[in-house]
Amino acid sequence: MISLTAILLRIARHRLSPNAIKSRAIQFAWTLSKKSFWSPVKNQCILLHKGVSMGYGSYSSDGLNLRLANGTIVGNYCSIGPGVVSFNANHPDHFFTTHPILYNPKCGHVTSDQLDRITLEIGHDVWIGANSIILPKVKRIGNGAIIGAGAVITKDVPPYAVVAGNPGKILKYRFSESTIADLEKTKWWDSTMESLKKNTHCLNTIASPVHNLKTAIPQYSNFEKPANTIRHQGTMHLDEKIK
Ligand SMILES: CC(C)(COP(=O)(O)OP(=O)(O)OC[C@H]1O[C@@H](n2cnc3c(N)ncnc32)[C@H](O)[C@@H]1OP(=O)(O)O)[C@@H](O)C(=O)NCCC(=O)NCCS
Repeated sequence: MISLTAILLRIARHRLSPNAIKSRAIQFAWTLSKKSFWSPVKNQCILLHKGVSMGYGSYSSDGLNLRLANGTIVGNYCSIGPGVVSFNANHPDHFFTTHPILYNPKCGHVTSDQLDRITLEIGHDVWIGANSIILPKVKRIGNGAIIGAGAVITKDVPPYAVVAGNPGKILKYRFSESTIADLEKTKWWDSTMESLKKNTHCLNTIASPVHNLKTAIPQYSNFEKPANTIRHQGTMHLDEKIK
């Protein structure tokens, strides 16, 4: 067993900066939890390493190489495919140059970040297909939405919409309006996986929501809630829909 002194000596020898130490600690914790496709430890690593809040049960195929913008909030039970990218600001187009010299303090001209950065909120149960790009005007992707592989998302995405293409357009909705409303009412994503699996009749109802969803709605509220579940600030219903 390596003692704390040995670790500190090693750090001193390699003259690791605090950031390098943090990064190695995160990599170490990640390696320990590598076997599970999802775990709270993994999501904590993503938060510390990338500044992205991943909700209960949510995971990224890219793991620690996730490229969602810093500050992004991802709901529960989301699947983020490989190569997904999002941006939280455009380079300014109203200055004489779009170069970071005018907004990035690292360039030495300004003392603080000069860009207005948005916070992207991704709802619960969202599946984002491989290599899709989410542009800075997008603030919300609704619960249950699907983003097709290679899509370029330019506007907010309504709940349960399937959006694909460049620019992203709605191909269809996954369910009828009333089923979507019922699914939103269940808030099943606020339940732990264990409680869902224990109540198989409810899980099966979600699997085939056209059947008896209404009878299941009151039951979900009694399920065990995960600690630290993502609570979105605003409503996930959208004012502006992709036409
Ligand atoms: C979006 C998606 C879920 C739709 O699947 P689907 O409902 O079975 O849709 P279909 O294959 O029936 O396609 C319907 C139409 O949308 C088009 N389409 C489907 N996916 C598309 C995409 N990603 N980009 C552009 N157009 C797409 C099809 O060409 C078809 O057009 P048409 O009606 O003119 O022929 C699927 O195509 C997709 O992109 N999946 C993502 C896979 C992925 O990235 N996995 C990563 C692992 S996490």
